[in-house]
Amino acid sequence: MRKLRLAVLISGRGSNLQSLIKACADPEFPAEIALVLSNKTDASGLEKAAKAGIATAIVSHTGFPNRADFDAEIDTVIRAHHPDLVCLAGFMRLLGATFVEAWHDRLINIHPALLPSFKGANAIGDALAAGVKVTGCTLHFVRAAMDSGPIIAQTAVPVHPGDDEAQLSARIRQAEHEIYPRAVRLIAEGRVRVIDEKTEIDDPK
Ligand code: GAR
Repeated sequence: MRKLRLAVLISGRGSNLQSLIKACADPEFPAEIALVLSNKTDASGLEKAAKAGIATAIVSHTGFPNRADFDAEIDTVIRAHHPDLVCLAGFMRLLGATFVEAWHDRLINIHPALLPSFKGANAIGDALAAGVKVTGCTLHFVRAAMDSGPIIAQTAVPVHPGDDEAQLSARIRQAEHEIYPRAVRLIAEGRVRVIDEKTEIDDPK
């Protein structure tokens, strides 16, 4: 079986990366991680990748005069590892339209809210501030507009009375760690199609 090759892009802790590393450790899992790329030199996810024997790269956005040059450089680094799918896993840089279009339907992102609610970098704080009783996480194909694109999987997560951001984040992350490998498996098995900017999924479990 040829495995789907993943490039995982991170900016920090990399707990979603860790969930993918764990899934890929199963010989039956239909994907493998070819590269972990971080835009932050101190992202602790890089250690998780190195420990698992995965190739890592750091491309610091601070070294580039504009977004297009940074995007072009990460595109070059990613392509050198021949991935089939680019997985954003806590990658906290907006990617420009050229990059996003170049990876059309081969670029996915995890977001800590039930999109299209609570887009942006403060999704969990915004959900708490709005007083919602249920929030969650969304795995989606990436389009040029921030936190948009065909939804592959979502999990609802309850907000408990008195939750602070750390407590709610931890609960959402648990759900993320379950849906990310599940969605990658569905894509690797060819069960996800995008039709009219919505996904159709064969045999969703
Ligand atoms: C995750 O909760 C992910 O949903 C969020 O960053 C966290 C990364 O955690 N992403 C975004 O907010 C993107 N807009 P991790 O580094 O432990 O995987």
